This record gives sequence, C-alpha cells and structure tokens, in this order.
Amino acid sequence: MTEQIVANALHPADNGQARLFVALALPDKVLARLVALGKEFPGLKWTPPENLHLTLRFIGNVREERVAAVQTALQAVRAAPFSLRLNGLGLFVRPRQSILWAGLEPCPELSELKGRIDAMLALHAVLAPEGGRFLPHITLSRLKSAPQAALRERVKGVGKTLAGSCSARSFILFRSRLAPGGAVHTPEAVYELEPPLPDGR
Ligand code: 2AM
Repeated sequence: MTEQIVANALHPADNGQARLFVALALPDKVLARLVALGKEFPGLKWTPPENLHLTLRFIGNVREERVAAVQTALQAVRAAPFSLRLNGLGLFVRPRQSILWAGLEPCPELSELKGRIDAMLALHAVLAPEGGRFLPHITLSRLKSAPQAALRERVKGVGKTLAGSCSARSFILFRSRLAPGGAVHTPEAVYELEPPLPDGR
C-alpha cells in the first residue's frame, strides 16, 4: 500500500495536539452529485466539497508526537479497492445538532476496512476502538434546529433520487482544526487500497 504524505504545516494554535480522523476518499463525481443536491435544500448550510467525506474512524486529539504511530498503523492496513452504492438521505435527530446525511447500501468491504483500521490503530498506536455501532454516512448539513415535518418529507422525497455506485480506492488521514467559520480538514496522508499481490501479501 502506498502512502503519500501531504505537507501540512503545524499551527501554533494546535498546542502540541492533533485532532485526527480517518475517512474514505470520495470520487469527484460523487462530490459533485452531493454538492448539487444542496440546491434541493435552499436555506440549509451545505457541507462544502472539501469537507464531504465518509468518516471511518474519529480519533480525536492525540499528542503531536503520536501522529507518526497513527501513520504507521494506517500504513499497515491492507485492503483491496471496492464499490460502494449511495442509497438515499437520512437524518440523525439529536438534541444539540441534527444531521442530514447521504447513506450507503450495506457494504461488507467498508465494514471490513473500518475493522482493519481500528485493529491497526489499536496495535500500533494503542488507540482503543470506538464504542457504538458504525453507521456509515456522509454529512451534508448540520441543522441548527430540529428538523420540521416539511424538511423530513423533503429528505424522504429527494432521497429517492440518490443512488448509483462509485469506487473506493483510498482512505485519508485528516487533521481537523476547529475554527469559528467551521472545522477545516487538511489531508495528512493518503493510503491507497490495493489488490493483494499474487503471493497473497
Ligand atoms: P461525521 O463523520 O458524522 O460528519 C471530524 O470531526 C469528522 O469526524 C466529522 O466529519 C465528524 O462527523 C466525524 N466524527 C465522528 N465522531 C465524532 C466525534 N465524536 N466528534 C467529532 N467528530 C466526529
């Protein structure tokens, strides 16, 4: 598996900590489709394309000197490219902030990849797996207030138009910086998914 390090200057505000998460890279045509969907929801603040991702693992704050161990862990993850199918829209309704998301058809390869990432992070970076069920989704909008009936109906209706397959070819370690205008996510490293070698490695 190749790794591509992307220059990512440290910022004094990081205070020796890196806020990290791992996400699946989405093909440009999917990003374009998801951005276009925003037009169906005028009035909602839509996630900009550079922030659209499918989170595989939220790591949270780690000390800067542990980032290398996180990278070693992710480099050790072996998985082949696979296909994903987008499937409708949904809402996570939560007291403080609800989320409008794009969903996916159940995908064993995706769950398997998440499991391998968690296992390698535990092994190489001593990061215990997250609790809770993995609910793969792509956040499209964070809602300031609880979704009203009209929005719920719209989510159902527009969701019926969201389908189609795409390929998953890499995953990314992102550094996330919280800023007044919203979090800024910068790729730290990109990990290619590669078919196994003929000798099974
Ligand atoms: P999301 O995947 O549901 O959109 C960086 O914060 C990214 O990690 C966000 O896109 C966010 O949500 C995801 N994430 C998952 N669990 C999180 C948590 N407990 N706190 C913050 N972000 C989390």
